[in-house]
Amino acid sequence: MNNKNKINIGVAGLGTVGCGVINLLKKNKVEIFKRTGFEISIVSVSASNKDKKRDCDIKGLNFYTDPLEMVRKENIDILVELIGGESVAKELVIEALEKKIHIVTANKALIALHGNDISEISNKQGCDVAFEASVAGAVPIIKVIRESLNANEIEWVAGIINGTTNYILTEMLKSKKNFNIVLKEAQDLGYAEADPSFDVGGIDAAHKLTILSSICFGIPLNFKSIYIEGIEDIELDDLNYAKELGYAIKHLAIGRKNKDGIELRVHSCLIPKTRLIANVDGVKNAVVVSSDSAGPTLYYGAGAGSLATASSVVSDIIDISRKILSNSNNIIPLLSYQRDQLQNKNILNINEIESRYYLRIRVTNKPGVLADITKIFGSKSISIESILQKEDLVNDENVPIVLVTHEVIEKNIIDALKDIEKLDVVKGKIIKIRIEELES
Ligand code: HSE
Repeated sequence: MNNKNKINIGVAGLGTVGCGVINLLKKNKVEIFKRTGFEISIVSVSASNKDKKRDCDIKGLNFYTDPLEMVRKENIDILVELIGGESVAKELVIEALEKKIHIVTANKALIALHGNDISEISNKQGCDVAFEASVAGAVPIIKVIRESLNANEIEWVAGIINGTTNYILTEMLKSKKNFNIVLKEAQDLGYAEADPSFDVGGIDAAHKLTILSSICFGIPLNFKSIYIEGIEDIELDDLNYAKELGYAIKHLAIGRKNKDGIELRVHSCLIPKTRLIANVDGVKNAVVVSSDSAGPTLYYGAGAGSLATASSVVSDIIDISRKILSNSNNIIPLLSYQRDQLQNKNILNINEIESRYYLRIRVTNKPGVLADITKIFGSKSISIESILQKEDLVNDENVPIVLVTHEVIEKNIIDALKDIEKLDVVKGKIIKIRIEELES
């Protein structure tokens, strides 16, 4: 299929990342050749509209509007799938694997939702499927877990793995701009998903956590097992109160083994400002992996963006090319563990986790309110660590009270908040944010 010093690739999808890959392979052609000793040649591309104005030059490349046709007609070694979404991408990848074409993809939904099937087919075909760019953009976290920490039992993984939400939370606090304006900025910068509710609602981070949890803990991919919350409820007040209490609010994906099973959850958290990860701002991502021998290790970098994500895609292309040229494909299991060693484990319900909590409760400003609230907490064995009430707001009719609890089972908090929300003096929904120590 290929001569000794040349690998032919086809790129399906010419959006932010697709164009990034074309630009990066052109810009760093010489540098890449100096490192690898072979040429990576883009022979064909596909996108729904040839004439669309885009940020990359596709002159001279065979163009297809149908990526399946490209795979059927072109003689390529590697298909680079950058279409995103599920259905077309899945059909395309399976058809390519059936033709023994290796796959590089940035598609987290594809891997999270269909990776078990894809792994079976690629294994049967002796092909590689690489997906570094699917989690944390430019940060080589998949390679680290599959190849660099593979002597370890991994205990927990926690990360800021959605650049858009981190950008929004950072900018809301820094520039006091409102949520929708900052989201629009993230879209304009090419960070957000085609449907930005996937970012804001935590789905994108959950796709990524599905992948991380499988390769960290040796469990099959199971998107449905992830507990998901987005950042919709976080207000500027919360970001400010958290800061005053010595914390930053970050949207985190957490996978943790504990004595009863595995916690898999995506939600906003207060993290002590003294932790490195609490200071990861803007579109940057960071992942902490804590393992039995290496201890905690931290990986940081751009979580989205054209060239940043392309860096991971091209690195995967280089890896697979080296394997093709040395006849050593399919030696690293797609999900890090040997396929017959992947095992379903007990995934804990969110009610069963233990945490400290930040609670913001809006109440009528009159005597006795706090006593009513703390009585309910007492009845559910919840002990309060600190209380914050803003001096400058005490003359308002309604005032916010911010409480921090000691560690407690989530079920008790949920029960207590249900009762507290029924009190006449409590106005509106109580904001509850878990506190993560992330000791490392
Ligand atoms: N929308 C994603 C993010 C892109 O903001 O992180 C990178 O996966």
